[in-house]
Amino acid sequence: MNSKYYNQIGDYYDKDAVDFEHRYWKNDTLQRIRQSFREHVRQYKFTRVLEIGFGPGFDLVHFAQTFPEASIRGLDISAEMVRITNEKILDFNLSNAISKQGSVEDIESQFPGERYDMIYVFFGALNTVDDLSNSMAELERLLLPGGNLVLTFVNKWYVGGILIELLKGRFRSAFDRLKKVWGGYSSSKFLASKCYSSKEVKLSTTLKCKEQRGYSIFFPAWYYGGIHRRLPNKIRLFLWFIDSKISRTKLGTLGEYMLYDFQKKS
Ligand SMILES: C[S@@+](CC[C@H](N)C(=O)[O-])C[C@H]1O[C@@H](n2cnc3c(N)ncnc32)[C@H](O)[C@@H]1O
Repeated sequence: MNSKYYNQIGDYYDKDAVDFEHRYWKNDTLQRIRQSFREHVRQYKFTRVLEIGFGPGFDLVHFAQTFPEASIRGLDISAEMVRITNEKILDFNLSNAISKQGSVEDIESQFPGERYDMIYVFFGALNTVDDLSNSMAELERLLLPGGNLVLTFVNKWYVGGILIELLKGRFRSAFDRLKKVWGGYSSSKFLASKCYSSKEVKLSTTLKCKEQRGYSIFFPAWYYGGIHRRLPNKIRLFLWFIDSKISRTKLGTLGEYMLYDFQKKS
């Protein structure tokens, strides 16, 4: 495990935690996408859940409250995100939820012997793992037969984003995601990450991909606030609708974000 790298990621998100929730609640695109991620998870029956990279605990708390009979475990690399989430677990008296600090490599030591029928990652923690194939192998090992891995990734081939950046004259940033190391969303703070294509994600595991879908193919990505503000709501809704129709096709793999659902054989 590359602990220097994980310390850097942890430090980045410790700082990011300060106004993470505030930024999120101002962004209805992120809220829409999260809703879709949650609906995807909710179609399954599960009792043993693991979340990697829970941030300030939006989904960990949501699933713990909605499914009180399920045990919900979470690991996040940022001490500050863990502190915020632990506070919520105490405030809401969620006896079925436990959040701890760590990355995929630490799951077994933090939750010894536990196995899961649902493991999910929402919004990016797998774009900042040391070695994606090793992480995927570990998640597969910890998954119970018949269980699902619902994983979401910042996508490499966001073609709409390339075009928008080119039109804005930002030639360098247009192709940032194609580099070996992507610096993250912020132009002022560097987060050493990696964007993956749909092919790369599928090649990183022996599990079969049951379903995949893209987000923000025509609907502008969550960080294009200016474009969102200028577009009439009707057009935004129309673009979201078009995206939902093509999200599971080849075109869907050209979106800003991707969801993959891998299932382990029963
Ligand atoms: C963009 S935030 C998303 C947080 C949350 N899942 C959400 O949907 O709002 C990414 C989170 O993943 C955590 N993270 C990043 N890399 C990680 C890793 N390798 N292992 C565990 N957590 C990680 C960060 O600390 C941060 O809390």
